[in-house]
Amino acid sequence: MRAIRYGGFQATPEVVAVPDPVCTDDGVVVEVEASGLCRSDWHGWMGHDPDIALPHVPGHEFAGRIREVGSSVGVWHVGDRVTASFVGACGRCEACRRGQHQVCDDQQQVGFHCWGSFAELVAVPRGEQNLVRIPDEIPMDVAALLGCRFGTAYRAVVHRGRTRTGEWVVVHGCGGVGLSSVLIAAARGARVVAVDVSTAALERARRFGAVAVLNASQDDVPSAVHDLTGGGAQLSIDAYGSAATARTSISCLGKRGRHVQVGLLAEDGGTVRVPMAAVLSAELDILGSHGMPAHDYPEMIAEISSGGLDPRPLIERRVGLDDGARLLADAGGAGRPGVTIIDPRS
Ligand SMILES: NC(=O)c1ccc[n+]([C@@H]2O[C@H](COP(=O)([O-])OP(=O)(O)OC[C@H]3O[C@@H](n4cnc5c(N)ncnc54)[C@H](O)[C@@H]3O)[C@@H](O)[C@H]2O)c1
Ligand SMILES: [Zn+2]
Ligand SMILES: [Zn+2]
Repeated sequence: MRAIRYGGFQATPEVVAVPDPVCTDDGVVVEVEASGLCRSDWHGWMGHDPDIALPHVPGHEFAGRIREVGSSVGVWHVGDRVTASFVGACGRCEACRRGQHQVCDDQQQVGFHCWGSFAELVAVPRGEQNLVRIPDEIPMDVAALLGCRFGTAYRAVVHRGRTRTGEWVVVHGCGGVGLSSVLIAAARGARVVAVDVSTAALERARRFGAVAVLNASQDDVPSAVHDLTGGGAQLSIDAYGSAATARTSISCLGKRGRHVQVGLLAEDGGTVRVPMAAVLSAELDILGSHGMPAHDYPEMIAEISSGGLDPRPLIERRVGLDDGARLLADAGGAGRPGVTIIDPRS
């Protein structure tokens, strides 16, 4: 099969022929129809993820039809339309037994621990714990986005952020995760302030329901948010991932506000200086959010099927593997606005 592969961190990704993946007893092989280019793929390529062994085929946000089913998998069949929660939970550890698959002790993330979906075929181990059924009315490129960024945003806004109607919600970084967060928070009746350094990203945030936008390279974001909201936001999400955006996000909160960290922190081993005195005196919540367990997907999928949430306009471009290889290496900085989908068949 054809796949995007890199032989070294920050080495040029190439489209090459590699052997077809082998189906594990507990897993499936999926014929990939769409695979989103997430910033986490870029972090992996940069060498920020210790779980990646070289050479590597990245890609973890995918959807397609099942081509092969492992001998111990009962509920999935050839031809089923699926995505997978990128977490790759084991289903057996203490965290999984409590239903908290998103923080599994023994994750097998496709595209990180094992080869991923920037390829014609992808092996997905632990199928029963991680696959998610996609109804016919949801297109494959939208389904792909659910496997990582839209699902992650849903958990960050709804389950971790507990967004309520009328609340002020600030989203820092308006790429795949951030624009999804804007859309989901606005659909829940929140007043969303979008922050980015790219005017193109901010234009899109307005389209997805932000009532105000701030440019982090020009504006004093915390003081503008305190002015706009009359005392600070109830929820603020770092959907970019840096010490600076995490601190800015916390500084945007009003009393009893919630900060949710979604963006990966590559610098200083992920250490951020947090104003703990303010956390104490204003009773702030500092929360992390990691993916979403497969068993929590039906609620979100029902909202998409009924038209309550429409992720389709998030997708801006569809490319083949050759262009995908080029865009992977070029996804740092402000990147490209909206979501890029790689279709390995084109
Ligand atoms: N926690 C999780 O489970 C999880 C899941 C998916 C992605 N992630 C992480 O979330 C982050 C976002 O991923 P993505 O694919 O949406 O990224 P993306 O590249 O699509 O978007 C990032 C956005 O941040 C903007 N940006 C850059 N510098 C900024 C700054 N200083 N202030 C505000 N905005 C700035 C960019 O202009 C861009 O619009 C990444 O770190 C990714 O690895 C985490
Ligand atoms: Zn991702
Ligand atoms: Zn587990």
